[in-house]
Amino acid sequence: MARQRSTWRCQQCGHASARWVGRCPECGEYGTFVEEAPPSAAPGTSGASASPRPTVALADVSVSPDSRIPTGIAEFDRVLGGGLVRGSVVLIGGEPGIGKSTLLLQASGRLGARGVPVLYVCGEESAQQVRSRADRIGARDGISLLPEVDAAVIEATILAERPEVVIVDSVQTLFDPGLDGVPGSVGQVRATAARLVRLAKTSDITLIVVGHVTKDGSIAGPRVLEHVVDTVLYFEGDSDHAFRVVRAAKNRFGSAAEIGIFEMGEEGLVEVGQPSSALLAGRGERGVAGSAVMATIEGSRPLLVEIQALATPTYLQMPRRLSVGIDSARLLQVLAILERRAGLPLGSYDVYVSVAGGVRVTEPALDLPLALALASSRNDRPVPHDAVAFGELGLTGDVRGVPHAAARLREAARMGFSRAIGPTLATGVSRQPGYSDARTLAVALEVAFG
Ligand code: TYD
Ligand code: MG
Repeated sequence: MARQRSTWRCQQCGHASARWVGRCPECGEYGTFVEEAPPSAAPGTSGASASPRPTVALADVSVSPDSRIPTGIAEFDRVLGGGLVRGSVVLIGGEPGIGKSTLLLQASGRLGARGVPVLYVCGEESAQQVRSRADRIGARDGISLLPEVDAAVIEATILAERPEVVIVDSVQTLFDPGLDGVPGSVGQVRATAARLVRLAKTSDITLIVVGHVTKDGSIAGPRVLEHVVDTVLYFEGDSDHAFRVVRAAKNRFGSAAEIGIFEMGEEGLVEVGQPSSALLAGRGERGVAGSAVMATIEGSRPLLVEIQALATPTYLQMPRRLSVGIDSARLLQVLAILERRAGLPLGSYDVYVSVAGGVRVTEPALDLPLALALASSRNDRPVPHDAVAFGELGLTGDVRGVPHAAARLREAARMGFSRAIGPTLATGVSRQPGYSDARTLAVALEVAFG
């Protein structure tokens, strides 16, 4: 029999290769390839016969209408598509320290208090550590802790205790002694997760799995599991800011564009139900130049954010261009459009731009408010305090339409803004008083600064 060859596998995304490679061709990470032992049995040699369980006619499969378990945390339920779906598997990814354990313990507390039994598998922390965090966030009844990493033991405990919801924190600590590899390797992560996913599906238990994302690829990332779970959520935000965003990346049971917004407080995560007011809370005084309010869309939700710019004469050969929360290529493009299409050169200025509150804005509708903030700072003229803006800029200086204009305008009106500057609206979108449609950037600047 020919000797089975081993494969090399990327610990970040699971891409397989016949030999070691320095950079993964799939996800682009460096130094993430680890050798994997060949499988012990060839397919078709296990001697298994057809499933002893009869197949089920699709039409005969019963579906219970009330199959959601709301966690009671509205922002979390919203991203899930209306609560946890019974028997589904949710993966929550994010960098260490972002708040995954905190969120799930808070959800456990709410579920437990309502009489939904939760089993919390804490492979990373001791029961005492979890208990002290639980005290801090007020979680108490209905939660069983299982400090365990052996997948077989966890499986047996689930079958014996029959909880409704199981939380595994984290998948990278799980271990199957029958397999090669250390906990956190792609082989272990995939095999142990697959085992628990199978159990969840056959016993109608809802499973939430935590997966750490590390930049250096030292442990297998959640990406290797994305395809075996029903819902993938990522917890984002940076540790310098209080805001945390839970974003759906995949959802078999809801929209994959939804987000939930939280703030990390002294007693756990606090839901930010009115993100616009929270984000605009620190907004500068009326009459300050270099600030524009953008009506953006996050998921299905309109949100007002402040775009800030500072343009100051440079003393450098190469003027600085620094951006926070804004793609730097986007900034350069808007600067070029301002210079060529609106006659506003910034070549002799250092330019700093940021989105206040630590959020990231990646949608093209950022262009117009960014241009307004830059022009405002450059000319030291404030954008009207009661105006919001949105719109993509074409390279020719035209202001282009963006989706969800009506929702953006509704949010602006709700927050008390009486004016808006944006693209020519598609027919069917009701125009509200105070809306100025600008065909070009030059027109928009004229409207804003007259
Ligand atoms: P944690 O939820 O353990 O993050 P993860 O499980 O994603 O690694 O902790 C998040 C951070 O938040 C941690 O640095 C401690 C801090 N924190 C608070 O600020 N307030 C709190 O009430 C709690 C529980 C944690
Ligand atoms: Mg944790």
